[in-house]
Amino acid sequence: GGVWLSVFTLPVPLSSAVSLQGANQRRLYKDLMSGYNPLERPVVNDSQTLTVHFGLILMQIMDVDEKNQVLTTNIWLQQYWNDYYLQWNASEYPGVTNVRFPDHLIWKPDVLLYNSADERFDATFHTNILVNSSGRCSYLPPGIFKSTCYIDVRWFPFDVQRCDLKLGSWTYGGWSLDLQMLEVDTTGYIANGEWDLIEVPGRINQRFYDCCPEPYPDVTFTLVMRRRTVYYGLNLLIPCVLISTLALLVFVLPADSGEKISLGITVLLSLTVFMLLVAEIMPATSDSVPLIAQYFATTMVIVGLSVIATILVLQYHHHDPDGEKMPKWVRSAEQPDQHGASQSADGNLLYVGVRGLEGIQYSTVATTPNSGLLSGRLVGRAGEEETLLPTGHSSSAGSVEPDLAKILDEVRSIAKRFRDQDQDQVVCNEWKFAASVIDRLCLMAFSLFTILCTFGILMSAPNFVEAISKDFFN
Ligand SMILES: *[C@@H]1O[C@H](CO)[C@@H](O)[C@H](O)[C@H]1NC(C)=O
Ligand SMILES: *[C@@H]1O[C@H](CO)[C@@H](O)[C@H](O)[C@H]1NC(C)=O
Ligand SMILES: *[C@@H]1O[C@H](CO)[C@@H](O)[C@H](O)[C@H]1NC(C)=O
Repeated sequence: GGVWLSVFTLPVPLSSAVSLQGANQRRLYKDLMSGYNPLERPVVNDSQTLTVHFGLILMQIMDVDEKNQVLTTNIWLQQYWNDYYLQWNASEYPGVTNVRFPDHLIWKPDVLLYNSADERFDATFHTNILVNSSGRCSYLPPGIFKSTCYIDVRWFPFDVQRCDLKLGSWTYGGWSLDLQMLEVDTTGYIANGEWDLIEVPGRINQRFYDCCPEPYPDVTFTLVMRRRTVYYGLNLLIPCVLISTLALLVFVLPADSGEKISLGITVLLSLTVFMLLVAEIMPATSDSVPLIAQYFATTMVIVGLSVIATILVLQYHHHDPDGEKMPKWVRSAEQPDQHGASQSADGNLLYVGVRGLEGIQYSTVATTPNSGLLSGRLVGRAGEEETLLPTGHSSSAGSVEPDLAKILDEVRSIAKRFRDQDQDQVVCNEWKFAASVIDRLCLMAFSLFTILCTFGILMSAPNFVEAISKDFFN
């Protein structure tokens, strides 16, 4: 019980101090506000310059919109100045070390973000201004700032962006309000998944306008940030490299599979899909072609060329061995009847010679009602035989020698036919071999070309090595 009593009795002198401070505070507010005009620049002599120390606390990079070229950041501005009319003798108001004013009750610098892209332009939340007894005013308005930023996507996704935040007084010139820069505070910075903050240097610019000799100062902070490449590496670059490697397999695939062209076209289509994904992120600008778009375009050209090369290879592979004998074919096509007649006569004559041995077999097959087509064909042949048999019979009965000579002729012609076929086969194989050689050459040439392009284009980015080493090997 004693402990609790002591706890409850302890605040009594404090509470009396609070009530005392309350009275002092009330008196102080009354004294400070009597005759105070928030429109007045709070300097003792109007020819004096009021110095405002200016800085910012960067909390977070919220969004970098490449398409609309807008940077969204969470920032607390820092503004410190001395208000000559807000000083008091601390010993006359015991316990009151500082007072707070809503920002519209006392003078404050009209600092704005010049390159704001916000709908309300001034995106700050107007907080209280803290004033201590020596008249030191501290104003830290937080805000979600949207600023215009030229985002150069030339080296996307290995790019480093520099976004300016230009802040300054909208109406006061340098003679009445001098800006002094404070270093950017990034101790409370929350890391971004897409961007690495490298540094935030600031500088003071003095700008002169034609109207007046007075300088117009502004403080420009530059957010330097590097894009982290893991996301785009995994989602865009590695698939693209794999797909372009697949395109090389077009030259490995056997021509007889009939899939060479479709593989090439499929690869081309999937590259187009990836290119659309990239185009969705990128601003529709022709100022600079993004590195990744360049890479995709080059890959597409390579794949397109490989499709063309494949068509050439297929033409070689399926080359007609009688390509040069085309007139002969045309001629034979012109006289199909004559050709057919000689063929049938030859066939029949040959058949007569063989028929003596197998005639009985054919007749038995013809009589048995076997499968319709086969039996019909055989019956037809048998019928042909019947009509030809008498002439053949009579000739064979008259003289065997001429028949044998004819048979020999037939055998020769068969042998010639087979020899021709073999020759054609040889020619065919030659063409096929040529096709496979071209395939192999194309494979080597395109592999070399793809590797050169991949490394040449991707490594041309100024911070490629840095990005890879930081993002993938950390
Ligand atoms: C203000 O300052 C200027 C120059 O510093 C001086 O000439 C002038 O007398 C001052 N005025 C007052 C009221 O102190
Ligand atoms: C502050 O007030 C105390 C008590 O009234 C006085 O002694 C002192 O001189 C004052 N200081 C100034 C700087 O006016
Ligand atoms: C008021 O604040 C400023 C800046 O923080 C400091 O230099 C000064 O000593 C403070 N005055 C008093 C009376 O505490």
